[in-house]
Amino acid sequence: MKIGLLGMGTVGTGVLKVLSENQEKISRLSDDELKVTHAVVNDVNKKRDVDVSGIKLTDDVEELLDADIDIVIEVMGGIENTRDILIKLLKQGKHVISANKDMLAKHIDELTETANENNVTFSYEASVAGGVPIIRTIESSLNSNDISEVMGILNGTTNYILSKMTIDGWDYERALAEAQAKGYAEADPTNDVEGIDALRKIVLLSRLAYHVKVDIDDVETKGISNVDVNDLKTAKAEGLIMKLLGKSHFENGKLEISVEPVLLPESHQLSGVNYEKNAVYVIGNAVGETMYYGAGAGSLETASAVVSDLIHVASGGHKKNIVPEEKVEIQAGKSTKNYF
Ligand code: NAP
Ligand code: HSE
Repeated sequence: MKIGLLGMGTVGTGVLKVLSENQEKISRLSDDELKVTHAVVNDVNKKRDVDVSGIKLTDDVEELLDADIDIVIEVMGGIENTRDILIKLLKQGKHVISANKDMLAKHIDELTETANENNVTFSYEASVAGGVPIIRTIESSLNSNDISEVMGILNGTTNYILSKMTIDGWDYERALAEAQAKGYAEADPTNDVEGIDALRKIVLLSRLAYHVKVDIDDVETKGISNVDVNDLKTAKAEGLIMKLLGKSHFENGKLEISVEPVLLPESHQLSGVNYEKNAVYVIGNAVGETMYYGAGAGSLETASAVVSDLIHVASGGHKKNIVPEEKVEIQAGKSTKNYF
């Protein structure tokens, strides 16, 4: 299958690396060879930290729209213009994968409806909590449950900043600059630090969990841009840790939803979720309390989710059951890593 990339920055580069490094396993899982043939970028002359041989680089999105490709991965960002491009691609019968929660929080209904009408797949596992597999978990693995609660740390940048301030005593500006340097923050980090990014994610998760439409403008949101390192020190001395939480509760057809910094007791499980890590609780009436943890941002971490969408699409949206052919030799005493 031929793949087009819209964007080749932090996440797009990670996608190319995962495809190359895990090539053998990925081809075992997909029904076809997966090859990135086109990529749209801003600057075709920029030095890339990845092998781009065999990929036609262009700054003209029309080239992608005219190209003979089967799947497009959108890791470019942007809202209205990007929505227009993806709608065109879906109408052309192309499968689309996106990590772009800014755009999805606004246009997810239209994009999924257009995908359905054109009998193609629209997937967005990487849009919430980076590498943490939470979208398909809620959509599929927990779909036998009536879900009442989704809650957690949904933004890697703010968790990184709060952790650096609380644990390492850094000031806010230094911690934000480091989160930007590591590729966790958005191009404009305002949406990270003001809680808008976490808001978009809790809205996307709530839509899937409760099957409701949520208008993001109706949700109360507070960020962390006014937090002072001394406040965090004082809280820590009292056994409290600050975390930016996205929370939603659905009961009797009523939704409570918010994003705000919360002081948690040090013993709370979420207090131990630090730096770029995210963690999401989901409570279902059959399964009870479940929790998912991992990297909420980052190049390879986010690419892990994007490429999983790609394999899902390339295998026709069904799970391919792998039956191993060869027995592997087990080495005595080396079956587990010493974690403790
Ligand atoms: P990024 O590093 O800024 O990369 C953006 C890429 O898109 C770059 O390759 C850029 O080209 C290209 N691009 C941007 N605007 C363009 C335009 N108008 N026309 C053509 N190309 C354009 O961004 P990123 O961190 O990879 O994030 C990409 C998307 O994934 C965003 O929607 C983000 O919210 C989402 N996401 C990011 C993370 C993360 O950890 N970074 C995690 C989950 C989801 P140049 O390379 O030439 O500049
Ligand atoms: N800027 C986002 C974050 C990227 O820090 O969580 C992952 O969505």
